[in-house]
Amino acid sequence: MAPDTTRPETYNDKVVRQFLLAASVWGIIGMSVGLMAAAQLAWPTLNFGVSWLTFSHIRPDHTFGVIFAFGGSALMGTCYYVVQRTGHARLAFDRLAGFTFWGWQLICVLSMVSMPLGLTQSKEYAEPEWWIDILIAVVWVSFAVVFFGSLRRRRIRHIYVANWYYGAFIIAVGLLHIVNNLAIPVSFAKSYPIYSGVVDAMVQWWYGHNAVAFFLTAGFLGMMYYFVPRQAQQPLWSYRFSIVNFWALISVYMWAGSHHLMYTALPDWVQSVGMAFSLVLLMPSWGSAANGLMTFKGSWSKLKTDPAVKFMVLSLVFYAAATFEGSMMAVKSVNSLSHYTDWTIAHVHSGSLGWVAMITIGSLYAMAPRALGRPAMYSHKAMDVHFWLHTMGTLLYVLSMWIAGVMEGEMWRATQPDGSLTYSFLDSLMAIRPFYVTRWLGGVMILTGMVVMAWNLWHTASHARKRLIKPIPVPIPEPTHDQVPMPIPAAT
Ligand code: HEM
Ligand code: HEM
Repeated sequence: MAPDTTRPETYNDKVVRQFLLAASVWGIIGMSVGLMAAAQLAWPTLNFGVSWLTFSHIRPDHTFGVIFAFGGSALMGTCYYVVQRTGHARLAFDRLAGFTFWGWQLICVLSMVSMPLGLTQSKEYAEPEWWIDILIAVVWVSFAVVFFGSLRRRRIRHIYVANWYYGAFIIAVGLLHIVNNLAIPVSFAKSYPIYSGVVDAMVQWWYGHNAVAFFLTAGFLGMMYYFVPRQAQQPLWSYRFSIVNFWALISVYMWAGSHHLMYTALPDWVQSVGMAFSLVLLMPSWGSAANGLMTFKGSWSKLKTDPAVKFMVLSLVFYAAATFEGSMMAVKSVNSLSHYTDWTIAHVHSGSLGWVAMITIGSLYAMAPRALGRPAMYSHKAMDVHFWLHTMGTLLYVLSMWIAGVMEGEMWRATQPDGSLTYSFLDSLMAIRPFYVTRWLGGVMILTGMVVMAWNLWHTASHARKRLIKPIPVPIPEPTHDQVPMPIPAAT
């Protein structure tokens, strides 16, 4: 059928809304499972003797749920929103975009159900079995086709920096997923990796580390580079600096994975290369954090009035803190204390609850009213309540795990004059138990905040329900500038 040229072209926001809804539902599910895992560490009988409820079965469900289901849905939804707005063009391939939504949700459900049942490759962050991996590869390639196809359709010549980060995230995650999951299936329920021994470990941590780099960092930096200037209503502090940081980040991150394998059978020089690259990594990490924070120069007053801005500013502070900590933990002598302890868990959650979750929540609050055709979120007060619940919960979580981690590390190394250990492992577990309870309390606050967000989104959407049944399409503006990067995207 010939296109109707009498009507203005509009954005495809349906798939954006679907991912927005999915992100808030998966956020609640993934964090509830994390809370259950936290409770089991404080009160071990909470597995009720049920095999699929034991800590080892639900832990991968938590990590998959929060990283790939919650984070993945938020990344794909915002990516589709951003590529349209910054290119002044509709998404390419509407049906394929719809397929990426339903395909990703199917993958999340299949993984979340099969892992507790014991169907797992036992590779951290890559647990799902081979047949789910094939589905992931198909959906991911479709996602790449939609994203790069949309970039091709753009009517602004310059490719805004947020898209560079999203593009790197899509290419790198596809590559990592395929290489790390090469396996020989022996049945529906079991496969064996083609790598063995130390090579398997190295490939796994090349993957694991770069899942942090490209899934939990590059993708969310894409989000940050669009929504921070949008919400600050100012151009990026330095556009050129954002490009320099982009190339520095993607060229350095790939080589730092061996810091996960310190003091192992991996050759010593490979461990040292990982440590050196991790130290260099601090520069582009702080570069992006500084660029984001400085973008608020002149509009700091928004911190008083806009809860989305509060989330964004604090996320950048946590990003700077977590990356500084990571670089320090990659120093061999520091790693000898932190490895195996809850210090690593503190680092992970200052990165994931502080940086990843906060930039996501801030961006969702900025995007949701626009994608739902409303002037603002339903309740401003609820956004503020969410901010304080999330901030206080994250601080309780991270502080308690830092203390527990350093205590564990010091207790394990303490020796008597005759060389025997001062403390047994059980002593260290009993000493940190109060901190496990504190972490759980922090988790309760964070989860409550997520429920408040879902309630607020629901009401924002239900006020727009008539529009959702027959959405009022947002017309795509004519491109106003051909050369200049888009620091403040159009008001839609
Ligand atoms: C209510 C909020 C949360 C709670 C209560 C929680 C709790 C937990 C617990 C108990 C563990 C296992 C720790 C251990 O093995 O000793 C864990 C691990 C983990 N969590 Fe969370 N979590 C929460 C939110 C998140 C979010 C939002 C993310 C990511 C976006 C995340 C990512 C991870 C990762 C990657 C690990 C594995 C860490 C490692 O292997 O070193 N968590 N979490
Ligand atoms: C300059 C940036 C960073 C560096 C150099 C770095 C370095 C490290 C180091 C050395 C470890 C401990 C490895 C071990 O002892 O086993 C680690 C663990 C981890 N980091 Fe980072 N980190 C950085 C940023 C981040 C960010 C921003 C996040 C989250 C968004 C993050 C998530 C994780 C996770 C999930 C683990 C646990 C992996 C596991 O054992 O399962 N890191 N990181």
